[in-house]
Amino acid sequence: MAHRLGIVGASGYGGAELLRLVAAHPALEAAVVAANAQVGTPVAALFPNLAGERVFDAIDVDRLAGLDAVVLATPHAVALDLGARLHDAGTPVVDLSAAFRLSADGFTTWYGDEHPRPDLAAGDDRHLDAVAYGLPEFHRDAIRAARLVANPGCYPTASLLALAPLAALVVPGTIVVDAKSGTSGAGRAAQDHLHFAHVHGDLAAYGAPTHRHTGEIERWLPGELGPVSFTPHLVPMSRGLLATCYATLADGVSAAAVQDALRAAYDAEPFVHVLPSGTFPHTKAVAGSNGCQLSAVTDERTGRVVVTAAIDNLGKGAAGQALQNVNLLLGLEETTGLTAIGVYP
Ligand SMILES: NC(=O)c1ccc[n+]([C@@H]2O[C@H](COP(=O)([O-])OP(=O)(O)OC[C@H]3O[C@@H](n4cnc5c(N)ncnc54)[C@H](OP(=O)(O)O)[C@@H]3O)[C@@H](O)[C@H]2O)c1
Repeated sequence: MAHRLGIVGASGYGGAELLRLVAAHPALEAAVVAANAQVGTPVAALFPNLAGERVFDAIDVDRLAGLDAVVLATPHAVALDLGARLHDAGTPVVDLSAAFRLSADGFTTWYGDEHPRPDLAAGDDRHLDAVAYGLPEFHRDAIRAARLVANPGCYPTASLLALAPLAALVVPGTIVVDAKSGTSGAGRAAQDHLHFAHVHGDLAAYGAPTHRHTGEIERWLPGELGPVSFTPHLVPMSRGLLATCYATLADGVSAAAVQDALRAAYDAEPFVHVLPSGTFPHTKAVAGSNGCQLSAVTDERTGRVVVTAAIDNLGKGAAGQALQNVNLLLGLEETTGLTAIGVYP
């Protein structure tokens, strides 16, 4: 019998992408697809790819608590409340927001508010038996053992996959991440700066030097590698995220050592594909998938390594990774219902 999954925030881009993935998952059934303002609206009215008669459900915490797992794809203020209540009811939860990714102090620093449940803040090592940071390539065992999984942000996912294997090879304090995302990264709500006429033909940075994902990247890089300089950009695409990461190599680290470290980290990983050095990843190659393609070049002239990583912000950056975490939480094969191969061209 299929496991019953609840999706809260199913009327948003992350939630709807998860609904698409669950439709093809052999061991999961989307038992509840809850929304807020869109309760009662046909799913297909917002997402024509999800054709059918189904309408968005209201949020009923008791009903959600009775499911096998719940994914929250809402703003973090909503997830702070719902995630804690479902966790307290014993329901496994994967949260796509930033509600549980940092320590309580880190949350206050980067999000400005007191954390209402410091005991559920994944960034605090004392609580890592209850809550896990959901980057399976580096926290798989913790995710399997946890009941609440903080799904990483889209920019941190690409940045950490690019940099974490090189943690012992680079000089602390030298990391620079220059990243670009398609507009679905900002969610479904209409916003002035996301209108076609504003975005089309345009490219601009935003949020530097204090974009909130900076703190998450610093927290989850292995060791003490920060501070990190992080600048995101909005690009005129629907989907896709590319992170170009620079760091100074420690004395004596060779180009071969960099490639060896990436291969050691990812040779056995189903969703991360290391391209040959000098070949650069394309966002389109992973579109619609849970894949990450990355590659590294070393620059002998500057002593730096440059790693580029491409993901689909709604795939490995959100719903795909959430499904990977649901599979782990429920004891299913991690790759079920997911593909690393994108839709191309
Ligand atoms: N988009 C991405 O690429 C991406 C990547 C990684 C992580 N995330 C994170 O995932 C979460 C969802 O992002 P998204 O892009 O899918 O956002 P979105 O498209 O704006 O959707 C937000 C969802 O949350 C619901 N919602 C809004 N206010 C609510 C409230 N007060 N109570 C209950 N539900 C409420 C909305 O319901 P109605 O539409 O019915 O009001 C909608 O279903 C966010 O925390 C975001 O930071 C997004």
